[in-house]
Amino acid sequence: MSSTRIAFIGAGNMAASLIGGLRAKGVPAGNIRASDPGAEQRAKIAAEHGIEVVGDNASAVAGADVVVLAVKPQVMKDVCLALAPALTDNALIVSIAAGIPCASLERWLGEVNGQPRAIVRCMPNTPALVGLGASGLYPNASVSAAQREQAQQLLSAVGIALWLDEERQIDAVTAVSGSGPAYFFLLMEAMTAAGEKLGLSREVAGQLARQTALGAAQMATTSDVDPAELRRRVTSPKGTTEAAITTFQANGFEALVEKAVGAADHRSAELAEQLGR
Ligand SMILES: NC(=O)c1ccc[n+]([C@@H]2O[C@H](COP(=O)([O-])OP(=O)(O)OC[C@H]3O[C@@H](n4cnc5c(N)ncnc54)[C@H](OP(=O)(O)O)[C@@H]3O)[C@@H](O)[C@H]2O)c1
Repeated sequence: MSSTRIAFIGAGNMAASLIGGLRAKGVPAGNIRASDPGAEQRAKIAAEHGIEVVGDNASAVAGADVVVLAVKPQVMKDVCLALAPALTDNALIVSIAAGIPCASLERWLGEVNGQPRAIVRCMPNTPALVGLGASGLYPNASVSAAQREQAQQLLSAVGIALWLDEERQIDAVTAVSGSGPAYFFLLMEAMTAAGEKLGLSREVAGQLARQTALGAAQMATTSDVDPAELRRRVTSPKGTTEAAITTFQANGFEALVEKAVGAADHRSAELAEQLGR
């Protein structure tokens, strides 16, 4: 990765977190270039990461081995159509845009020697901003083993990166980890409000809820047993945790989560249908 030349199209939040992650992993600033229409944003990203940020997408991708498409889904079609002639033939395209299928990107970016361009479609999530992201990756048939490794290293710079067997699974990734941070925020909000009702100050209840989420996540990710076992271990018979868990389950907690995550999966597929046209 240290010699790979990487270009970012769109230098917003996600691009900035990936650029920060790559720089922290030792990728030289000279190997990263970005483009963005906003002069202020260009100056900010250039100053923060020491990289060149230009206003013109075509000049950003000149000579790039990996091109990361980090613009909003709504502008992706126009960006791709304009960018296609400037791409080198063997460039790997990594799209982090929600809801844009590989087939649309293949169509918009054009073919090389009668074959679709090498494209990896990714679904990252916002904790990438703090280096704790979770991404699902899907490669099209043109992606080589070496390019797969490049995409893996790129996304691994900001968290875990897991390969999917089918593109359709991107919707499930969106439903579990893409939208997932908000589910945990909602639980933190609800626990804070419940703590307040029980007489804690908002400040104390909020700190307890947030730190408990962090501690539980840390335990779950470092333990060699799964969360169900960790839960059993802290749930003593007739104790306080059991009283709460029984209440959650008696009120359909698991079924509700399944329904909510299913709704996100369904919405992701619907958006892909609309945005990929
Ligand atoms: N944030 C997330 O949690 C998350 C998670 C998964 C996937 N994603 C995907 O990541 C992508 C970027 O999201 P983000 O949150 O980083 O958005 P963002 O902060 O708005 O970044 C997008 C950047 O692209 C710039 N841009 C607009 N038109 C452009 C063009 N024609 N050429 C080059 N740059 C252009 C925007 O500039 P202006 O603001 O001036 O328009 C903005 O700076 C989206 O496709 C999103 O679906 C985000």
